[in-house]
Amino acid sequence: MLFPLVFLVGAIVVANQTFRFLEFLWFYLFRSSSVQKYLRRPAPYAIVTGASDGIGKAVAQELFAKGFNLIIHGRNEEKVRRVVDELKARGSGDVRYFIADAAKSGHDFTQLLKPFADLSVTLVVHNVGGTSLTGGRIDEFSDEELAGFIAWNDLFPLLLTRALLPNLRTTAKDGPVLVQFIGSQAAEASPPTMSVYAATKAFLAALTRGLDNDERLWGTPSGVAFEYLAVGSVATNSNPQNVSRTAPAPEEFGRALVGKIGCGRRRYAPWMMHAIMGWAAGVLPEGLVDQSAAWMVKKVYEGRQKSAKKA
Ligand SMILES: NC(=O)c1ccc[n+]([C@@H]2O[C@H](COP(=O)([O-])OP(=O)(O)OC[C@H]3O[C@@H](n4cnc5c(N)ncnc54)[C@H](OP(=O)(O)O)[C@@H]3O)[C@@H](O)[C@H]2O)c1
Repeated sequence: MLFPLVFLVGAIVVANQTFRFLEFLWFYLFRSSSVQKYLRRPAPYAIVTGASDGIGKAVAQELFAKGFNLIIHGRNEEKVRRVVDELKARGSGDVRYFIADAAKSGHDFTQLLKPFADLSVTLVVHNVGGTSLTGGRIDEFSDEELAGFIAWNDLFPLLLTRALLPNLRTTAKDGPVLVQFIGSQAAEASPPTMSVYAATKAFLAALTRGLDNDERLWGTPSGVAFEYLAVGSVATNSNPQNVSRTAPAPEEFGRALVGKIGCGRRRYAPWMMHAIMGWAAGVLPEGLVDQSAAWMVKKVYEGRQKSAKKA
């Protein structure tokens, strides 16, 4: 009696793992992009925050190439205008912008968004965020600095989403609308010196699921969906590393991210190597994952020191 039961459970586990493995291969190697479904209307716009550099800029470039008009955001007007000009030189789409320091609170989001009220926004990429990476533990930061990290990563995307939602719901009456939050694999490992950053990204993961449930399950489904992206290392200014399979250049990463937009998953890693690392972190012993994450954080600090010396 026991043997057939063990055999049955074993067969179910093997079938499940085989299915997951095949699904993984399909998702990263063969699946075609769904981004076109957010372009099926006259003059669709995408909002990308933190788009003057790094991942945000690369995603904005890729979306513009796909046919989106853009509303980009940054904190340095001169730098943002340069990106607007660069984008406009690449195509005939419309590119607009707004300026706000995400690490500060007290923004009037309704006022910030007023110039875009009549536009059909079908995609929002909440990319702005990050961590100061000074190597300090929480008692080495002031109240204002800690509050600033939370405003930068959480409060800004939360309040911007709240201000956008009524218009997004109206736009969603004519077709799907998607809001993405750029997360981090740090949220899963919480490496040393990144506890607040990791916690802010974990907040985004929970927020994504909750907001998606709000729009699907509470009253009439609105057609506004949410995705959380578990991002590993990307070789940007804030994470100066050599480009590698595990730390792609922002342009490569931007292409992968846009290729997965609207894939139907609520939480995923757009970059295959990050997905493999995320899976490994889930199956390895926690102590080993903590040690590896600490080692990786050390490498990030070394990269930063090297690039600071070069500058
Ligand atoms: N790079 C990675 O390895 C990695 C890993 C996991 C997750 N992520 C996440 O990916 C996102 C982008 O990271 P990234 O590496 O591309 O960063 P980045 O290269 O430093 O670029 C960040 C962008 O956000 C803007 N920005 C920074 N602070 C801002 C503020 N207080 N207010 C308004 N705009 C601000 C920057 O403007 P300026 O041009 O003026 O600096 C820039 O346009 C972040 O959410 C980060 O947490 C990155």
